[in-house]
Amino acid sequence: MLSTARTIAALRETISGWRRAGQTVGLVPTMGALHAGHMALVEAARRDCDRVVVSIFVNPIQFNRQDDLDGYPRREAEDVAKLMAAQTDLLFAPAVEVMYPEGFETKVAVDALGDCLCGAMRPGHMAGVSTVVAKLFLQVLPDRAYFGEKDYQQLMIIQRMARDLDFPVEIRGIETVREADGLALSSRNVNLSEAERAVAPQLFEALTDLASELKGGGGAPALLPNGRRRLMDAGFTEVDYLELRREMSLAPLQQAEPGCRLFVAAWLGQTRLIDNLKVL
Ligand code: PAJ
Repeated sequence: MLSTARTIAALRETISGWRRAGQTVGLVPTMGALHAGHMALVEAARRDCDRVVVSIFVNPIQFNRQDDLDGYPRREAEDVAKLMAAQTDLLFAPAVEVMYPEGFETKVAVDALGDCLCGAMRPGHMAGVSTVVAKLFLQVLPDRAYFGEKDYQQLMIIQRMARDLDFPVEIRGIETVREADGLALSSRNVNLSEAERAVAPQLFEALTDLASELKGGGGAPALLPNGRRRLMDAGFTEVDYLELRREMSLAPLQQAEPGCRLFVAAWLGQTRLIDNLKVL
């Protein structure tokens, strides 16, 4: 049976009962508008843990444009139906005032990892993510928490934060769930027009081709500008970044080496898509 908590007190009351009974708790943080990518995280938590908590909170402090926050899809009734079907135990869906009461001032930021890629393009975004996830960890005190590789930088930041601040939680990364044509599932895909949707899979195609060229010994300084041009020719309106980096440190690389990944963010009209792919 799915129950819903809207306050931290209600959340803690339910979870402390489970803990007293010796049950393990898995947490899946989300911003809702749930799709099969989110549900893969919920299913992994369901397999690993006695109890599964999913949070739905469209976190204002990780948005740097008001119109982006206002336009973010909100579909709680449909989300609840999906969570029930996936045998989720508890939905935590707090209002903004519950998460950030009057006078809220504290930030948790993971320096170097948060300043590159999406962090460089969206100032304050990554600290907004790490702050809300730190709060969720302390509110839920999960044994394990689940994050998608779709947001690889976010996954690395949360892992580092948990390690640096000694959060007693194990972070699990889950592989990106894609449409049949390769497009990574995202809550933002619903905003694509039919024409934009037809172009969108080229993001993953470009990453796949670049990965094989890099594996073949090609250098990033030569290949990445070609990749950018290819995306613009395909119909993307802007490429924020297309980079080869180390997986753990996110340090930029000129050449493929074990443990490296391609990262891309590009715009189709008003919609920003991100993706990444392991190279070696
Ligand atoms: P949101 O975009 O709703 O994503 C919630 C979780 O689902 C994240 O861990 C994300 O990486 C994962 N996810 C999204 N699309 C996926 C896909 N196609 N395959 C696998 N996993 C996917 O990420 C956030 O929310 C927020 O930043 C949050 C962590 C909740 C903090 O506010």
